[in-house]
Amino acid sequence: MDKEKGSPILAIKNLSKTFDGVEVLNGISLNVYKGDVIAIIGASGGGKSTLLRCINQLEKPDSGQIVFAGKNINDPGVDINRIRTKMGMVFQQFNLFNNMNVIKNCMYAQMKVLRRSESEAKRRAMDALSKVGMVDHANYNVHALSGGQKQRVAIARALVMNPEIMLFDEPTSALDPKMIGEVLKVMKDLADAGMTMLVVTHEMSFAKNVANKVVFIYNGRIREMGYPKYFFTDPITPEAKEFLQGINH
Ligand SMILES: Nc1ncnc2c1ncn2[C@@H]1O[C@H](COP(=O)(O)OP(=O)(O)OP(=O)(O)O)[C@@H](O)[C@H]1O
Ligand SMILES: [Mg+2]
Repeated sequence: MDKEKGSPILAIKNLSKTFDGVEVLNGISLNVYKGDVIAIIGASGGGKSTLLRCINQLEKPDSGQIVFAGKNINDPGVDINRIRTKMGMVFQQFNLFNNMNVIKNCMYAQMKVLRRSESEAKRRAMDALSKVGMVDHANYNVHALSGGQKQRVAIARALVMNPEIMLFDEPTSALDPKMIGEVLKVMKDLADAGMTMLVVTHEMSFAKNVANKVVFIYNGRIREMGYPKYFFTDPITPEAKEFLQGINH
């Protein structure tokens, strides 16, 4: 199940988080190795987004550790902006800069955060846009794009930073069915190219066919974790069984 022995590039240890006294994550532990593609699945409200948001420090956990590239990212003195460049995050709602065109969206953080020159930023932006099939749209305004195109640009914008891991939070949930496939194809290409990915998704075909590990979250805990082929055909816990039956209906 694990891609590689040795040190995980991301180690989550006993992570807990409450909102207003309500426990949303409860003792989550997960090791992510280079090249892992982990599908995080589970019912609405289970804590999947909160888990990704804690990893990316958009939320502060109450307790537990997140060790990334050998550093506990909650330690004081850790430069979170630097860490975030190494974790590409793709959200359900694209979150592009609407006042910039496509290529500027992919250049901005390179120049601002990584201090790359304009010409280098442009070269790398075009390279990333070609990976997601959006080179022809480099000069388009964001509002002229379809949802699927926006999401592919959002993926390119994360890739230009040379992330060590990509975090996806339901990247296809806001898309029309015909656009879901084009985004999943880009994600599969990334996985095939060896990108380490944590993907919160309701796309069970992606979890089955692309992920090497499935993590099933139930009420803030990892209730079951395993190889997709076993998880989907022979889930162990009653909660996972019920969840899978609900989707198949
Ligand atoms: N900022 C917040 N303040 C208060 N409660 C929150 C906040 N963010 C999330 N929650 C609550 O935490 C719980 C878990 O939410 P979360 O968004 O992580 O679930 P999820 O598994 O991503 O669900 P979905 O599949 O609907 O996206 C929910 O009960 C939610 O209402
Ligand atoms: Mg969510």
